[in-house]
Amino acid sequence: MTTLVTGGTGKTGLRLALLLDKNRHSVLLASRSGSAPGLVPLDAVEFDWLDESTYANPFSRTSESSRSITRIYLVAPTSTTDCLPPMKAFIDYARKEHNVKRFVLLSSSALPEGGPAMGRVHAYLKEIGKEGVWFMDNFANDRAGLIRDEDRVVSATGTGKIPFVAADDIAQAAFDALTATTSVDSDLFVVGPELLSYDEAASRLTTLLDRPITHTKLSFDEHVDFAASTFLPNREYAKVLTALDIKISEGLEQKVFESEEHRGNRFVGKVRFNDWAAKQNMSVWKKA
Ligand SMILES: NC(=O)c1ccc[n+]([C@@H]2O[C@H](COP(=O)([O-])OP(=O)(O)OC[C@H]3O[C@@H](n4cnc5c(N)ncnc54)[C@H](OP(=O)(O)O)[C@@H]3O)[C@@H](O)[C@H]2O)c1
Repeated sequence: MTTLVTGGTGKTGLRLALLLDKNRHSVLLASRSGSAPGLVPLDAVEFDWLDESTYANPFSRTSESSRSITRIYLVAPTSTTDCLPPMKAFIDYARKEHNVKRFVLLSSSALPEGGPAMGRVHAYLKEIGKEGVWFMDNFANDRAGLIRDEDRVVSATGTGKIPFVAADDIAQAAFDALTATTSVDSDLFVVGPELLSYDEAASRLTTLLDRPITHTKLSFDEHVDFAASTFLPNREYAKVLTALDIKISEGLEQKVFESEEHRGNRFVGKVRFNDWAAKQNMSVWKKA
């Protein structure tokens, strides 16, 4: 039984793959390059969501029955917002041709079922009635370059608060769902242990780095322009992510963290922001 981890070179995928391997589960990383990052000693396969000719690769790699793929962690491609067509095509292929029954989808709390980007994939997993699990992922983007070079973080979240969650905690939640004897078969909201605004996160970084770090608050349009000209060249993707920021400014993430309604399907991570930050390689934030 092998778990295929798409986005296997990314923030949550790689951590999940290492966790599975450490617990003696067979795991296969999927990435466009077909190799694991750096010195990571894990098996990897070439896989591109946008190239259907690569869809069979993971299954031919694990053709012996003892290694057949039974579970898949789904991380949407970051190069397009129209993720349903390729993800639906691969999910259908994996189910119909290879009898894969368990899927765990990494999504975002701010993307409702049926909504844009992964929201449509979430709805599709529900529709086919399979053991799909929708994860809410909400953790800090890597803003290291801006912090290092301009001493600031930038967002359209205003004073909205976020339960920042570490990728390690998301990987643990995905591990639990993928390896559970019975499928979780529902949405799981993965949150960190405390609510912080970007102002508060900047203030904590100020203390940690011993120099002032500020939070620049932008409007929707300003943030789309900023994101599209810096870290998100795909303007449509920049719009989707900025719309999530606006929802945060309206209190959406705080509601998920605090509401009784979500208490039963909430996975609260253990890692606090200060502990996470202190463990990072400080050179990414330090001036050259
Ligand atoms: N970062 C956040 O705060 C955050 C919050 C909520 C939701 N998410 C969601 O989490 C997912 C990951 O985003 P991230 O920014 O954190 O990136 P990431 O996981 O650090 O990296 C993206 C991963 O996706 C893979 N990938 C991208 N395009 C691909 C393609 N066409 N075919 C196959 N693999 C592809 C990359 O692999 P290769 O480059 O090696 O091919 C890499 O492993 C996205 O769906 C994002 O919307 C992220």
